[in-house]
Amino acid sequence: MNTLQQSTPARLHHLQIVTGQPETMVDFYQRMLDLRIVEVHADSTVLAGPARAMVIGRSDGGIEPHYGYAVADASALEALKRQLSGRDLPYRTIEDPMFAPGAIVITDPQGRRLAFGVAAQACDYAGPPARLQHTVFQTTDLDNIVRFYVEKVGFAISDEVVDADGVVMVVFMRSDDEHHTLAFFRGSNNEWDHHCYETSEWNDIRDWGDRFAAAEVPIFFGPGRHGPGNNLFFMVTDPDGNRLEFSAELGRVAADTLPGVWPQSERTLNSWGRAWIRS
Ligand SMILES: [Fe+2]
Repeated sequence: MNTLQQSTPARLHHLQIVTGQPETMVDFYQRMLDLRIVEVHADSTVLAGPARAMVIGRSDGGIEPHYGYAVADASALEALKRQLSGRDLPYRTIEDPMFAPGAIVITDPQGRRLAFGVAAQACDYAGPPARLQHTVFQTTDLDNIVRFYVEKVGFAISDEVVDADGVVMVVFMRSDDEHHTLAFFRGSNNEWDHHCYETSEWNDIRDWGDRFAAAEVPIFFGPGRHGPGNNLFFMVTDPDGNRLEFSAELGRVAADTLPGVWPQSERTLNSWGRAWIRS
C-alpha cells in the first residue's frame, strides 16, 4: 500500500481549535508564538506566523476543531483524494482559511477531524524558529484508531511503546520523512494530548524556555530527550491547559523502515529523567 510518505507527503500545517475564552487564547498565541491576526470572523480568529498557524474558534460558534495537514500542491491533493476513495474512506470538501479551495476533511472513528489541503497563507515576517510539526491524542480505542490511520489514511508506524504485558500503549506515526506527525497514547479518556513545534537546534529550546520563563509560564514536562524520535523537548500549557511542546533534533525515518518497539518506561519517554506517563 502507498503510504502518505511515499505518495503524497503531508506535514502538519495548522490547528483549528475551539475555546471558551477566545480573547485570552488569541492574546497568548500572539504574545508567546508571535502569531498575527490575519482574519477575524464572527466565531473565529485566524492567526498565522512563521511556519505555524491556527484558527481559534468560539466554543459556542459554528467552528469544529480539526488538524490541518498540507500536501505539496493541487495534484498531490487530487492524488490523495483518489487514494482515500480507493480505500472507501469518505471525505468532505471544506472551506479552510489556511488552505486553497478544494481542501478536504476526514473524520476518524472517534470523531477527530484531519483536514488535508494546499497551504494558502504565506508568512512574510521572521520569528524565532518553531515549525508546527505534530499533534498527539489520548484514546480509549488505540488499536482501532491506529488501524484507521494506517489502513485508511496512509500513515506509517515509526515506533510503538509496549508495556510489560505486550500491550501497545503508544504509537508514533509519520506522514512524511519526520519520525512522527501524529501519535496516539492509550488512555482512559479521549483528549487532545499536545501539539509540537520543531525548532532548529538546542539553543532555540533554551530561548523558548527563557521566553516562557519571562512570561511566568512554567515548564510542565521536561526538558529531556524522548526515546522514540530522539528529540529534545519541553512542554508548557496555554491558558486552556492545552499542552505545547518545543522540540529539536526530531529524527527522520526512511519509507522502508520497519516499526520500532520500545518498552514502556520513564526512560523511553524521557531518557534524561522523569516522564509523564499517561493513564
Ligand atoms: Fe510530542
